[in-house]
Amino acid sequence: MEGRLKSACVIGGNGFMASLLVKLLLEKGYTVNTTVRHLGNHKKISHLLALHELGKLRIFQADLTDETSFDIPINGCDIVFHVATPINFASQDPENDMINPAVQGVVNVLKACVKSKTVKKVVLTSSAAAVTINQLSGTGPVMDESNWTDVEFLTSTKPPTWGYPVSKTLAEKEAWKFSEENNIKLITIIPSLMAGPYFTPETPSSVDLAMSLITGDEFLISNLKGMQMLSGLISITHVEDVCRAHIFVAEKESASGRYICSAVNTSVIELASFLKKRYPTLYVPTDFGEFPSKAKLIISSEKLIKEGFSFKYGIEEIYDQCVACFKDKGLLKI
Ligand SMILES: NC(=O)c1ccc[n+]([C@@H]2O[C@H](COP(=O)([O-])OP(=O)(O)OC[C@H]3O[C@@H](n4cnc5c(N)ncnc54)[C@H](OP(=O)(O)O)[C@@H]3O)[C@@H](O)[C@H]2O)c1
Ligand SMILES: *[C@@H]1O[C@H](CO)[C@@H](O)[C@H](O)[C@H]1NC(C)=O
Ligand SMILES: *[C@@H]1O[C@H](CO)[C@@H](O)[C@H](O)[C@H]1NC(C)=O
Ligand SMILES: *[C@@H]1O[C@H](CO)[C@@H](O)[C@H](O)[C@H]1NC(C)=O
Repeated sequence: MEGRLKSACVIGGNGFMASLLVKLLLEKGYTVNTTVRHLGNHKKISHLLALHELGKLRIFQADLTDETSFDIPINGCDIVFHVATPINFASQDPENDMINPAVQGVVNVLKACVKSKTVKKVVLTSSAAAVTINQLSGTGPVMDESNWTDVEFLTSTKPPTWGYPVSKTLAEKEAWKFSEENNIKLITIIPSLMAGPYFTPETPSSVDLAMSLITGDEFLISNLKGMQMLSGLISITHVEDVCRAHIFVAEKESASGRYICSAVNTSVIELASFLKKRYPTLYVPTDFGEFPSKAKLIISSEKLIKEGFSFKYGIEEIYDQCVACFKDKGLLKI
């Protein structure tokens, strides 16, 4: 059975991570169906259309909130990668903009998997935001797959951006519940902040965030600090490693449960001092006032590594490639 899955459906194929996943699957010889929200929006899917030349790719229109829109693209596939999620950090109404559609989307995609009778495995993209957020203080605790973000804490205190971690946590929990009740083989991948080169028409928001200390964008730097305060740390992973981990668990017969996929544990201040040393010609801020220099916690990818996965890229490669990519696109003033 191992390695014999040959047809895949990727939900949300035009996104930052998903578009690279589609590319890697085609390069590995998979037949790929993928879904996008707006098939007519050439600007949003041009990079996906360009992948047609790599292999057998079909692009369908589907929306997480449209109950039956996944039936046709999923039917006939061995493996489904559910990557899409509504992201709107500025939302005034996170329940309706993120939480409800994320949870509903999981149910709609999994229902189509049940109906198909061909799907053998579903890999859902969760997030470190579904693991690390709680009221712990102090330094040191290691978080692993047994830990879940404290939804009650988030919904009662509503810190900035609370809707996103709530949506990711509730969507993953719903996926576990539905898959157990309906006998679907589910695996979740839990990535940290993804960075690396991209071929989407727009700069992905996570790459912008990861690059904020180099671009000097004050608003994004404050978001990065907010991320450390809320999540307890800054953890970063190369987007290609995240895609490789998705394919790895899909093909690995023994894989089961949740898998944290995170290459680097760091903090804003540690990251800034690393960047300043590595890129002495670029401007990197070093004065963060009273901001805590150390992360509160660490997340461990030990389970994924024990399963046989190895990360290709560390912090040096992630940033070298991001910097090169930004220079290429004229996004860095030197
Ligand atoms: N990027 C990170 O740092 C990071 C870290 C941890 C986990 N993750 C998770 O990884 C996955 C991919 O992230 P990404 O950064 O690659 O995301 P992205 O580029 O923002 O892509 C999100 C995708 O979801 C689609 N989508 C949103 N609402 C939808 C709806 N109602 N129906 C159908 N599709 C919808 C978007 O379609 P449109 O293009 O039409 O809007 C887009 O294709 C997500 O599940 C995210 O939570 C990301
Ligand atoms: C893709 O969708 C088409 C149309 O429903 C279906 O015939 C095919 O089996 C699906 N799967 C793949 C991998 O092409
Ligand atoms: C992580 O979960 C384990 C098992 O539920 C628990 O013992 C531990 O305290 C949790 N860690 C943190 C830091 O919350
Ligand atoms: C992050 O912390 C965990 C727990 O100590 C450790 O297993 C892992 O190697 C660390 N990752 C990196 C890249 O430093």
